[in-house]
Amino acid sequence: MKALVLSGGKGTRLKPLTNTLTKQLVPVANKPILFYALDQVAEAGITDVGIIISPETGQSVKEAVGDGSRWGCSVTYILQPEPLGLAHAVKIARDFLGDSPFVMHLGDTLVEVSLSQLIGRFHETGSDALIVLKEVSDPNILRKVGVVQLNRAGEVVSLEEKPQEPKGRHALVGIYIFTPASHEAITRIKPSWRGELEITEAIQELLNMGRKVNGYFLDGWWLDAGKKDDLLTANRVVLDRFLKPSIRGEIDDKSKVSGKVEVRERALIRNSVLQGPVSIAEDCVIIDSHIGPSTSIGRGTHIECSFVQHSVILENCSIIQVERITDSLIGSEVTLRRDAHKSGNLRFFVGDNAKIEL
Ligand code: TTP
Repeated sequence: MKALVLSGGKGTRLKPLTNTLTKQLVPVANKPILFYALDQVAEAGITDVGIIISPETGQSVKEAVGDGSRWGCSVTYILQPEPLGLAHAVKIARDFLGDSPFVMHLGDTLVEVSLSQLIGRFHETGSDALIVLKEVSDPNILRKVGVVQLNRAGEVVSLEEKPQEPKGRHALVGIYIFTPASHEAITRIKPSWRGELEITEAIQELLNMGRKVNGYFLDGWWLDAGKKDDLLTANRVVLDRFLKPSIRGEIDDKSKVSGKVEVRERALIRNSVLQGPVSIAEDCVIIDSHIGPSTSIGRGTHIECSFVQHSVILENCSIIQVERITDSLIGSEVTLRRDAHKSGNLRFFVGDNAKIEL
C-alpha cells in the first residue's frame, strides 16, 4: 500500500494568510495540518508516500517535510504544474503509484479515523474504491463538497461534486483508498465545468465500469482546515483531544495554569492566566495576560496586558493591551496594539505582516 497526500491547490479560502503561508502548513495546535495526515499514514505502517506539490508552495512543503525520515517514510515529491483537480493529481502520480493500491489523503483535511482499520476494510470488501463518508444534515455544507447517494442497503449508487440540489446526505471527507483500476477510470473522464478532473467523477466512472465502490461511515469528526472557522474548530478539537500537557518553558509564581497546557522551550510566562487547553510555542513571552481556552500561540509571539481566547496566533506577533481577542486567526509578524483601554470584543482575520493600531 502506498499513500498519496495532496498538498498542491490554491488555498484561496484562507487568503490573506495563504498569500505567504502554504495552506497545508498552517498550524493546528502548533503543528502543520499536513503533519497530521503524515502521522496517520505512518501509523498505518505505510512507508512509501507521494506528496503532490505546486510550483508556488512546493519548496516550503519540501523544507517542512524533508525526506520523510521523521515519520519513518520515504517521500517522493510530485509537482503538479497547475491545480487541475484531485483526479489530475492522481494522474500525474501514475509513475509513483505504479500498480499498487493507495490511500489518498487531502493535506488540508483532518479526519478522526484509523487508516489501519480503513485499509483492513478495503481488503475485506475487495473494493476498487473505499471512500470515507460523513453524514451531514446541512444542505449548505453538502453544496460545497462531493456528495454520495446511497441505496437502502447503504451501497453507493452515484456521486456528484458540489451539487446544487444534493440527492444524498453523505459527504466525501477527503480520504479514499483505490486499486489501480482508478487510473483507467481517470483516463475516461473529462474536466468538469470548473476545468478540474474531479475525483467524484472518477469514482462514478468506476461504478459505471461495474467496479466495486464502498463507503466507510465515519463516526469521528472531519474538518476541512482550509477555511478560517473550520481551522479554529480544528484547533479547539485537537487541543481538547490530543494536547499532552507539558511545561518546558518558565512560568513564574504569580501565574495560574488550569486545564491542559503546553508551554514549549524558552517560553516565558509572567503574571498571567493560562486557561487550557492552550499551546504556547517556543520563545513566546506572555506578560500580564489571559490566554485560553482553545488557543494556540505560535513561536516567538509576545503578548502583554491582553486577553486571547478561541484563537490561533502564528509566529512572531506582538499583541499589546488588546482587551479581548476571540475567534481570531492571525498571521505571522502581526502587531496589534491598543493605546488606551477600551472594552468590547474584537474579531480578526488578518494576513501576514499586517499592523493594526487600535
Ligand atoms: P481544495 O481545498 O479543494 O482546493 P484548493 O487548495 O485550491 O483550495 P481553495 O478552495 O481554498 O482555493 O483542495 C483539497 C486539497 O487538495 C488541498 O490540500 C489542496 C489539494 N489539491 C491539489 O493538490 N491539487 C489540486 O489540483 C487541487 C484542486 C487540490
